[in-house]
Amino acid sequence: MSMKVLETAKEMLAYAGQMRSAKKTIGFVPTMGALHAGHESLIENAKLRCDVVVVSVFVNPTQFNQISDLEKYPRTFEADRDKLKNLNVDVMFYPSIKEVYPNGTNTVYELDGLDKLMEGPNRPGHFNGVVQVVMRLFDLTEPTKAFFGEKDFQQLTIIRHMTRKLGYKVDIVGCPTIREEDGLAMSSRNVRLLEEGRKLAPLIYVTLRKVQEEISSSGLNIAKNNAVQVLTQIDGVELEYLELVNPQTLEIATEKSEQIQACIAVWIEHVRLIDNMRVK
Ligand code: PAJ
Repeated sequence: MSMKVLETAKEMLAYAGQMRSAKKTIGFVPTMGALHAGHESLIENAKLRCDVVVVSVFVNPTQFNQISDLEKYPRTFEADRDKLKNLNVDVMFYPSIKEVYPNGTNTVYELDGLDKLMEGPNRPGHFNGVVQVVMRLFDLTEPTKAFFGEKDFQQLTIIRHMTRKLGYKVDIVGCPTIREEDGLAMSSRNVRLLEEGRKLAPLIYVTLRKVQEEISSSGLNIAKNNAVQVLTQIDGVELEYLELVNPQTLEIATEKSEQIQACIAVWIEHVRLIDNMRVK
């Protein structure tokens, strides 16, 4: 069966309804396009676990807190369509802004403190926009399971929480971060790095690994301070935050925490890069 490209809410709903009536499970992978191996791993996961796979490609304006970031976001429809075809995806959902938001974009969600730290204060409105688009896309694609990357750790935690809270019967599946050979987490933003910046970027991963090592030998505070010191000393890297948090509640971890996730955001050449790792 060849891949369908659906552009309207009506067509998407009709397809989802047909699959539901036929008792097929629907795996859904929401993306903003510029597809890379990270996205592909979510799709492979979905194919293994569901009867049909729907991938949306929609650059969601409501989650960008900087207009320049929205404008610079790569748009590669043809390449994305060809990749999805080769992956044997059943449906590429490629809606316009009007199809996604026929009633405007004013919904405000209570995120129950999960946006208090890290991406939250640094990108005002970002997670409200993410939740808004994901719930709308759930309405249109009626997934059995939806697949998200651990790369965007706070996003995954917030989606899990809000899906449950808003009563959606979608199983949220988290998938591991796919990295380049040198450790840099794959991201659609990586292509904006020049040669110099690209050489610096693996330092993010190296630093997270070092935190992981040091946390068992020297404890949380020393591990964190050492990492911050390294990152603030390097020309061309600007640290926005490094937080060690409880992976479920996203509250700041303490020496007593049994599980710790290290989450980081840095700027290199005006490109914002995020990453995270379980360090305990
Ligand atoms: P986007 O950045 O396109 O990412 C789509 C999905 O791919 C997300 O679940 C993200 O966590 C996952 N992903 C990105 N890089 C990855 C990597 N290196 N390894 C594994 N998974 C990776 O995240 C978004 O889009 C948007 O916020 C979206 C959820 C689509 C809502 O607009």
